[in-house]
Amino acid sequence: MQRSSIDVIHSLETLLSKDQVSTEASVLESYGQDWTRFTQPAPLAIVFPRSTNEVADIVKCARTHKFALVPSGGRTGLSGGAVAANGEVVVSLDKLNTIEAVNKTDRTIAVGAGAITQAIQAAAREADLFYPVDFASSGSSQIGGNIATNAGGINVIRYGMTREWVAGLTVVTGTGEILELNRGLMKNNTGLDFRHLFIGSEGVLGFITEATLRLCSPPKDPTVLVLGLSDMDAIMLVLERIQGTTPLLAYEFFSELAASKVVEHAGVARPFDTKTPFYALIEFERDSEETEAAVFEAVEACMESGWVLDAVMSQSVAQARALWRLREDISETITRWTPYKNDISSTVSKVPQLLSAVDTVVHNHYPDWEVCWYGHIGDGNLHLNILKPENLDISDFKARCGDVSVDIFEAIRGLGGSISAEHGVGTLKAPFLEYTRTESEIASMRAIKAIFDPDEIMNPGKIFLAN
Ligand code: MLT
Ligand code: ZN
Repeated sequence: MQRSSIDVIHSLETLLSKDQVSTEASVLESYGQDWTRFTQPAPLAIVFPRSTNEVADIVKCARTHKFALVPSGGRTGLSGGAVAANGEVVVSLDKLNTIEAVNKTDRTIAVGAGAITQAIQAAAREADLFYPVDFASSGSSQIGGNIATNAGGINVIRYGMTREWVAGLTVVTGTGEILELNRGLMKNNTGLDFRHLFIGSEGVLGFITEATLRLCSPPKDPTVLVLGLSDMDAIMLVLERIQGTTPLLAYEFFSELAASKVVEHAGVARPFDTKTPFYALIEFERDSEETEAAVFEAVEACMESGWVLDAVMSQSVAQARALWRLREDISETITRWTPYKNDISSTVSKVPQLLSAVDTVVHNHYPDWEVCWYGHIGDGNLHLNILKPENLDISDFKARCGDVSVDIFEAIRGLGGSISAEHGVGTLKAPFLEYTRTESEIASMRAIKAIFDPDEIMNPGKIFLAN
């Protein structure tokens, strides 16, 4: 180890306590990466602060000793946003995991950045309230990471992204200053709202250490419908028809390949015997007999039109959960193939064009590779996962997928869509940011970063390529 690295570790151990600083190989390995699995982790050390003040001290120390910091939550990200591959110090928010009592009058809950999403949902439920942002990784993702990536998930069609639910933030900027942003207020029109700058900033401006989240009333009797679809075109036709009957909590889709992977490798039961090219998973509130009858009628009409080939509706909470596994288990199941993920979006009305443009590119470039489709179609968000063929080296695979992604991103640019709908830019999509953001937008983003992080110590290489 070089002298300067020893100095850095020594200064961190002086600042915190020895048990809050780790250089153990297994800890470096696991805290140096997220779920992307494309980069070999190589952090210098992992630190575990216990308070916002300790985070501020670490930042000041990093400024003095000139080392880079990588904020780290549940490490469930899919774009390499929490990766530390160049001797950075990873700052884990694991120990800032407090969950305070729900404020029933304000309908808010105050939490530390390291609080697990599912634990927050449970605390809200105990108070007869609901934290609606949800996704498959909610059992291990931390709220700080959700906020830093403005996480989306399965209920966006109804409740929006994480941004909608953040009433206040405590942050430590890259200068080491502590800011209280919005303090849980419902109304606060006092100029620029830095809270929204930090939401989705992927750790390049500073650390999110605490948050006040909004809560709402829980949905009534959420009911799941899985439909077997005849082809891709049916996906949008069915969305329009069903959405006309009742507001939806979710409208998700997945392909037969995705379904077959979870059936085979995660032991999930098929929804019905018929195998169809695509499936839609719909969730709605069965709040009255009229709603149920209207949904039945809409499904029958879709069957008569030939768009829907088979259908099943949950009759219990347990059955609804079992059906959700068909969609929610896909991501984890396919990690064994180190998938190259495209997380793309357009406005909902342009989804048919997006689907057909991307499908053409995929067919031309990957005639023999396994391509797994799923996504939040009701939000205009498609996940296109290219599964790594077993015999292909990981860096060759990444390079080949990157080349082809350019064709996909060109199509997206033409439609005014986004190259990263909900997973963030991280390291993986940083080379392609210009497909969604103009040169002057990127220059403005860099200028804003320079205000909050003048020494460029915060999460280098994420969102922007190195200068
Ligand atoms: C999902 O929708 O399942 C998540 O965004 C994760 C993924 O895309 O794999
Ligand atoms: Zn998703």
